[in-house]
Amino acid sequence: MKKAETLFVCQSCGHQSGKWLGKCPECGEWNSLVEEKTQPSRRSKNGFQLREVSAVAFTDIEPQDDRRLPSGVTEFDRVLGGGIVPGTLALIGGDPGIGKSTLLLQVADKLSDAGMVVLYVSGEESERQIKLRGERLAVAAKNVFLLPETNLENIFHEIERLKPTAIIVDSIQTVFSSLIESAPGSVSQVREVAHQFLLLAKNRGIPVFLIGHITKDGSIAGPKVLEHIVDTVLYFEGERHHNHRIVRAVKNRYGAANEVGVFEMTGRGLMPVANPSQMFLQERPQNVAGSIVTACMEGTRPLLVEIQALVSGNKYGTGRRMTQGLDQNRVALLIAMLEKRAGLQLTGDDVFVNIAGGLEVDEPAADLGVVTAIASSFKNVNVDPHTAVFGEVGLTGEVRGAMQASVRAREAQALGFKKIVMPASNVAGLERLLGVRVIGVKSVDEALEELF
Ligand code: TYD
Ligand code: MG
Repeated sequence: MKKAETLFVCQSCGHQSGKWLGKCPECGEWNSLVEEKTQPSRRSKNGFQLREVSAVAFTDIEPQDDRRLPSGVTEFDRVLGGGIVPGTLALIGGDPGIGKSTLLLQVADKLSDAGMVVLYVSGEESERQIKLRGERLAVAAKNVFLLPETNLENIFHEIERLKPTAIIVDSIQTVFSSLIESAPGSVSQVREVAHQFLLLAKNRGIPVFLIGHITKDGSIAGPKVLEHIVDTVLYFEGERHHNHRIVRAVKNRYGAANEVGVFEMTGRGLMPVANPSQMFLQERPQNVAGSIVTACMEGTRPLLVEIQALVSGNKYGTGRRMTQGLDQNRVALLIAMLEKRAGLQLTGDDVFVNIAGGLEVDEPAADLGVVTAIASSFKNVNVDPHTAVFGEVGLTGEVRGAMQASVRAREAQALGFKKIVMPASNVAGLERLLGVRVIGVKSVDEALEELF
């Protein structure tokens, strides 16, 4: 057998190097290269073998898509793009304690209700701990089998015997292959394990869910590489301190990326939230300066969220800009625009902008909401609480059109808003929205004029 070779692998991006380096040349991370022993490829023993392959005509392939199976948890189906595609490999990531194991156990229960045999591999908890959680969730889980094991070969042996029709691995970082010498959780291990599960999912046509931990900087522990291997990446977003949990599809080969599922953490597990807009606006203060409702698109669904801003004098004259749930640079840019184009003197002020409820919004159509909230706090004048706004703002203070404008407007209408300030270029066809005054604006000046 060939000697195992030593490689230095960046634990952040997976870059490989023959020698140790202080800084990864690929991603620029410092001190991230770790020595890993890799076994020579199994194929190299008898050289490369030619295998007979032939391409298939596109038209000869049977249509596949209608074979999605519902998981039984509505919001989970939604983030997956309308149910589980057989043969899919999905990664579910999130901070510790946010609810990954809870959600997947509930999904396992629902799948077993639907007659599937689910194998729940746990490298983190004993079967008794999982049972305890299950009792709390009041799951019956007739056909759910627990396997507290971390050795990949043993797990595959059991899969061979049990022949499950769905597999959950909690978590991918704890599972290791004994064919690779590196420690569990290292890039080589995680990549190998993910690859093996990928082959399994594709060969057997069964869904495999991998739970992954997230590191401080927000990526799934070390291997960004993992995101390229799997079909779907779901992240739990926001903090543990809220009662609700947001699951976002960061990547999805079988559905819209950016789709979000909204859950509420209750004493009996994660419950899907039927009307998220309503939930996000529940605690909104009325008639207070610095608060405005904007209509965002999260995947295919419109969501109304409250943007809050606080502008306060800074006695040192060096204003700070802080954001939560929004891109800080984008907000800095909008503040500069407000100073130059709308004459708001914000230079010496601290400006804090926040999305209420812990949602993260990264679409430009939220710009007009940000601008309005800041202006409202600056002027100390509140906007009428039955008003919603949306639209992208450019550097010259122009308000640009947003995609899916009518979907957004209709969501605002459904939640009882009486006035919508939106891009003039989107207004066509919406003038006669029942019970709502739709106002198209071309510039930030016009919008602020209309709102204050
Ligand atoms: P868990 O699902 O174990 O999180 P993860 O696998 O992501 O680390 O637990 C999530 C948290 O949810 C835990 O702090 C306890 C809480 N919880 C509830 O509030 N209600 C419940 O029914 C359950 C099972 C957990
Ligand atoms: Mg867990």
